[in-house]
Amino acid sequence: MNNFIFENATKAYFGKGCVKEYLASEVNKYGNNVMIAYGRGSIKKNGIYDEVIGILTDEGKNVIEFTGIMPNPTYEKVLEGAALAIDNHVDVIIGIGGGSVMDCCKAVSLAAVSKEDIWDSFWAKKGVIDFEPLPLGVIVTVAGTGSEMNGGAVITNEKLKIKTGRDYPKCNPKFALLDPEYTYSVPKSQMISGGFDILSHIMEIYFSEPNEDNVSDDISEALMKSVIRNLRASIENPNDYVSRSNLLWASTMAENRIIKLGKKMDFEAHQIEHQLGAFTDCNHGQGLAVISPVYYRHIYMYGLPKFVRFAKNVWDINVEGKTEDKLAREGVEALADFIKEIGLPTTLKGLGIMDKEILKPVAKSCNISMGSYKKMTHEEILQILEECFE
Ligand code: NZQ
Ligand code: ZN
Repeated sequence: MNNFIFENATKAYFGKGCVKEYLASEVNKYGNNVMIAYGRGSIKKNGIYDEVIGILTDEGKNVIEFTGIMPNPTYEKVLEGAALAIDNHVDVIIGIGGGSVMDCCKAVSLAAVSKEDIWDSFWAKKGVIDFEPLPLGVIVTVAGTGSEMNGGAVITNEKLKIKTGRDYPKCNPKFALLDPEYTYSVPKSQMISGGFDILSHIMEIYFSEPNEDNVSDDISEALMKSVIRNLRASIENPNDYVSRSNLLWASTMAENRIIKLGKKMDFEAHQIEHQLGAFTDCNHGQGLAVISPVYYRHIYMYGLPKFVRFAKNVWDINVEGKTEDKLAREGVEALADFIKEIGLPTTLKGLGIMDKEILKPVAKSCNISMGSYKKMTHEEILQILEECFE
């Protein structure tokens, strides 16, 4: 194992009924002014809003509502939330939703306290947070990003056409409430794209050095198998508690830094998807599904031992009489087949992106990962995007 330091400041409450049981005691650690933040209304249809409001009212809280957080949250929306928090002297923020709500709330918690322009200071470049952001708690309603137990927040600057993520430990939520039954109402297509996002996070970490035996890769293999199995079961029966609860915790495990320990990490597929998102507002997990197999066909030979392990240990591919190269390729194709099987798009056109002209500026604007098996160039990224097109 390589050297590492591990800390995770988020307290996670997991399981059926956890919001009812623990929200009040957590919120009572802070003041009376509670800002609840949510997206475009799903929590009003599935009863989560009523449950949360009921608990906060019983505790005598003054509730301020920050609503309409969109998928791929924008910097402008962050500023709107920060102004609301400042005007209402908010003591604690509770984000109720998926990655978009949680990420937006993390940025709001910074912007409500910082004297600086937070895009310039903390997203355009890696900044130093030497102050306490507003306390944040999250109630997760969809499995996917794992944002609940890290300091990561991906924000889109629409003017600059840049979608970028930063992970600041100071932005870790103070607490996260994860009730798997809250995810039952997620539309099937979002459940599947969130499921693929989990798998992608694990692959982005797994497909990087070191290649030598290490605990992080072993846990990653177990997690990937679990995600594949439980995503299939959830598609079969969306109300199956066992599979939905496994997916939800796998989502957290993929992004709570545990499987990142001692790893270099790639995240180039994410860099490409984020810029595609900045130009087209496409769905995150669906974008990753299109990009990942094409990207891995480009790089597998540079990380051959790991791709062979992936084929053998994750997809149980028979090794007999096969060269390492063939095995590795079969592993990538098993991934591509799985993407088709679960009904995710396999081309940019399938994702609704019809304008080939945008591919050049998208490719040009992508960050280059320093942790990938093969350091990409912008020309190679363009080639990958062109191969993704149809
Ligand atoms: O708008 P609402 O009402 O919240 O509806 C959402 C939205 O339409 C809906 N939804 C969520 N829970 C539901 C539900 N609908 C019915 N019932 C429920 N229980 O699902 C839709 C998608 O929600 P969103 O939060 O956008 O999805 P996701 O969790 O996939 O988050 C995507 C965002 O997170 C970023 C992505 O780039 C994207 O901006 N990421 C954040 C990461 C992090 N912070 O660590 C890492 C990821 O790699 C990712 O980049
Ligand atoms: Zn992701």
